[in-house]
Amino acid sequence: NKPPTIPLLGQKYPTDSSTNITSAITDKLARNLYLEPAHPLGILRSVVERHFSDFTALSGWSPLVTPSKNFDDLGFPEDHPGRALTDSYYINRDLMLRTHTSAHEVEVFSRGERRWLLSADVYRRDEIDASHYPVFHQMEGARVFPATPAGMAEVEEDNARLTAHLERSNIVIEDVPHISATNPPQPTHDLRHAELVALNLKLSLNSLMLSLFGGRTGTSGEPLRVRWIEAYFPFTTPSFEVEVFFHGKWLEILGCGVVQQQTLNRANVPDNISWAFGLGLERIAMILFSIPDIRLFWSKDPRFLTQFAAGEITTFKPYSKYPPCYKDVSFWVPDTGLHDNDVFDLVRDTVGDLAEDVKMIDTFTHPKSHRTSRCYRINYRSMDRSLSNEETNDLNAAVVSRLAEAFGVEIR
Ligand code: PHE
Repeated sequence: NKPPTIPLLGQKYPTDSSTNITSAITDKLARNLYLEPAHPLGILRSVVERHFSDFTALSGWSPLVTPSKNFDDLGFPEDHPGRALTDSYYINRDLMLRTHTSAHEVEVFSRGERRWLLSADVYRRDEIDASHYPVFHQMEGARVFPATPAGMAEVEEDNARLTAHLERSNIVIEDVPHISATNPPQPTHDLRHAELVALNLKLSLNSLMLSLFGGRTGTSGEPLRVRWIEAYFPFTTPSFEVEVFFHGKWLEILGCGVVQQQTLNRANVPDNISWAFGLGLERIAMILFSIPDIRLFWSKDPRFLTQFAAGEITTFKPYSKYPPCYKDVSFWVPDTGLHDNDVFDLVRDTVGDLAEDVKMIDTFTHPKSHRTSRCYRINYRSMDRSLSNEETNDLNAAVVSRLAEAFGVEIR
């Protein structure tokens, strides 16, 4: 019962057996929240762009990409879980919604950009709660140096400048080696080049963390604490994650590393060496603006939207929350199985943002029939009004009938 084509961003695309994009998602494609100057995501984008003032700031790129761009060009293995229909949104077998801004690395490098930022909406099938939403925003950043003595002199000069700046600042950094046995250099790289570029990456991002979080750590005089951790990404090595200590907790802020040489070769800029990072805008905006629920970014309520002004990081003042209403849905899982993400997407597609969260609260297998039963608890709550029990029952009834229809589950 799929239509033969679906309209997206003013064009029609053929569907096939891979099509799993839902209307709750297609409705978001044209929102471009991160481009609104007085929206928290737009404000944060401009703050980062101001910090990297000599970088080219790119935006407005279509979220529709080929799986090759999103995965193959970056060296993702054939069996990487991110490729699965249960984890990513496909328009059809050959077209998907980008899962990260790294999908555009090859294209931007091939344009000859040597210092660039690219902000965009990205899409991942995921659970539903206060900090997970299937649409979010990332900013990719990269800097390219010639892999030559002159190029390395440029890195050293920049490293000296950034080191001096950080030494004058109230920041404490827990570091890891630039390169180690578990975070290896690339075989084609001169070891000294890789070390210098990894150091430049760390200094550049420590300086960004100071711009974003410095002076906001609460008790004045307390230093900003930044922690570097070894990481793994298919398209960088060495790779790192950055965490910041904020309101008593370590928060994961971004992933980064030295770009795999095959990316630069594919982009026709061999003989260069680059670093890249990708940061999640919602994560950081929730911290900086004290926004307690990720769904608020999508709110059209003036009580949310009028609290923010272009260029300013201010503290969100929550307005009264309406009461939640829990409904449980129990059913027998069909023998063919059923992925949690399929349940989450169906709920979202049926009731939109009125589902605050969905959790599987119970499962059991009948000892004789060997059939498996699952119970999901759906928490209905509107961000802008009170839902009546009657309305919530109607919403839940719609979810139940669509579950039966779409997956053949037997409601208990
Ligand atoms: N694309 C990665 C992610 O979404 C982040 C990343 C970007 C890591 C660039 C390294 C370099 O998790």
